[in-house]
Amino acid sequence: MHRTAQRTRTDVRTLEAIALAATHSAAIASRAWVGRHDKNAADAAATEAMRQVLADAPGRGTVVIGEGEKDEAPMLYNGETVGNGCGPDFDIAVDPLEGTSFCAKNHPGAMATIAFAEPGTLWSPGPGFYMDKIVVPPRAKGVVDLADTPERTLANVAHALGKPINRLRVVVMDKPRHQELIARLLRAGASVHTPAEGDVAGSLEVLLPTGDADLLLGIGGTPEGVMTAAAVRALGGDMLGRLAPQREEEAAAIRAAGMDVDRVYTCDELVGGDALFAATGVTGGSLLSRPRESEGAVLAESMLISSGQVRRIAHTGAHPNRGGIR
Ligand code: FBP
Repeated sequence: MHRTAQRTRTDVRTLEAIALAATHSAAIASRAWVGRHDKNAADAAATEAMRQVLADAPGRGTVVIGEGEKDEAPMLYNGETVGNGCGPDFDIAVDPLEGTSFCAKNHPGAMATIAFAEPGTLWSPGPGFYMDKIVVPPRAKGVVDLADTPERTLANVAHALGKPINRLRVVVMDKPRHQELIARLLRAGASVHTPAEGDVAGSLEVLLPTGDADLLLGIGGTPEGVMTAAAVRALGGDMLGRLAPQREEEAAAIRAAGMDVDRVYTCDELVGGDALFAATGVTGGSLLSRPRESEGAVLAESMLISSGQVRRIAHTGAHPNRGGIR
């Protein structure tokens, strides 16, 4: 987050510390469930741990993107308020365990994530679970459009990045709904990375200066979309999203809520103000290493994207200041 009239530097530091403590705690809690083939238990453990940190956090927060509606999510549900009331106001999007199946199967890519934004600035997807997304790095800002064909998108991004299409690296989750998209990208000459899940991680590969991708395309979760938009806001880059209901019930619920499935949301509409994003590795991978035990302590790796900077933090305790910022 940038220093604004609303947010002092101290407020931003406070929110950064809460974010890191929350993802660290969730990652350590889900560690016990790595490789246990029970993704719901892993998610519940991460959620409970994150909530404990947030409940006592300095400030007043509202969960805008949480684990679901109150009747289906006992903790960190949409609309839940957190914090001890003494500190800055904030809205949060949480995904205490992003890549639940990766964690359950002990595959690389699971991480605990959270995004903080100024109150009233996070888009709420209502009953929409899925959205179509395009994410590009800062140098390709403004050159993509969800109405474009995949071939046109590749050409525009390649031009903006000053490289041929056959050197473009695209991330598309390996889902049956993406078969045709993947085939077209391959035919056009791009290299396509197809993780089984995890489009927040895929988007970070696009956004980070050291990332391993140039473009993310395809349909994924709406909570993950808002989380990604917070990272885009904090770091630069660009993102577009549009609701993409995958079943008739979802489409009907969206219509009943008065939302327009054809509307394209810009990144600024998904997150309308300064934001910060934090993640802690759970099963390791190219972005973050997994927590490791060393001399009786557990050393975890986190990433903080805030005020246009990416910081990597190795920490052993619940409070990030006990670790070193690299
Ligand atoms: P979970 O961690 O909640 O399981 O989400 C993983 C994920 O792959 C997201 O990254 C992605 O946006 C979404 O699921 C896609 O949903 P689906 O697997 O139903 O296509």
